[in-house]
Amino acid sequence: MKVLLIFLSVLIGCLGLSAYTMSRFPTTPCWCWSRDQGMVVTTVPHPRWNEYASYGSYGTEADWNDPQRIIPLDYHQAQGKRIFYQQCVWCHADTTPAGPSNRSNVTPAPPLMNDGAVFNGMSDASLQQAIALGGRALGKSAMMPPYGKSLTQDDIRNLIAYMRVIAVPAYGKPSVKGHRNRKGKTS
Ligand code: HEC
Repeated sequence: MKVLLIFLSVLIGCLGLSAYTMSRFPTTPCWCWSRDQGMVVTTVPHPRWNEYASYGSYGTEADWNDPQRIIPLDYHQAQGKRIFYQQCVWCHADTTPAGPSNRSNVTPAPPLMNDGAVFNGMSDASLQQAIALGGRALGKSAMMPPYGKSLTQDDIRNLIAYMRVIAVPAYGKPSVKGHRNRKGKTS
């Protein structure tokens, strides 16, 4: 009898508490996807760019020059991003997740990895070669290390896909032959 009494009072307490919390939300809270992704129906406002950008993609990267613009990445680009932040960020970006980069100490200064003015004019094949063989083999600065032994051809292709998608000014041509996204377009 005593147990039943305790049970009932806890039950009523919980119901009362949840009724109270629900009444405090103007709209029913909902863990739904946003409208344009087909799942419907929420009046909860959210910014145009936020984590929803990653729905249907494998991750995002903020535009280096305009952090408000969030770039969704496909699988290959996301793999490239991962490798970039392991291997290249120290020389080819001004800031790293660990703080300032080494870029300002390197002569000649390595181009920023999103620098479309430098990379858009280079073909995938020549980027592949530059990354695999390094600067010295191409008669450029030996400060650019060769990655042909430590990264696979696919790693390097993924890196290039990442460079293409973050490029400013934007890269116009299909970047990586044979890499296709869900819609069947070359990415
Ligand atoms: C130790 C510093 C350093 C690291 C790490 C580094 N680079 Fe470089 N990179 C350079 C320098 C310096 C140059 C400029 C070479 C020149 O123009 O003489 C360069 C140039 C380049 C170029 C242009 C080559 C050309 O032909 O103009 C590409 C592409 C490139 N790097 C890609 C990468 C990628 C991808 C990674 C990571 C896998 C990487 N780099 C890691 C220093 C670095």
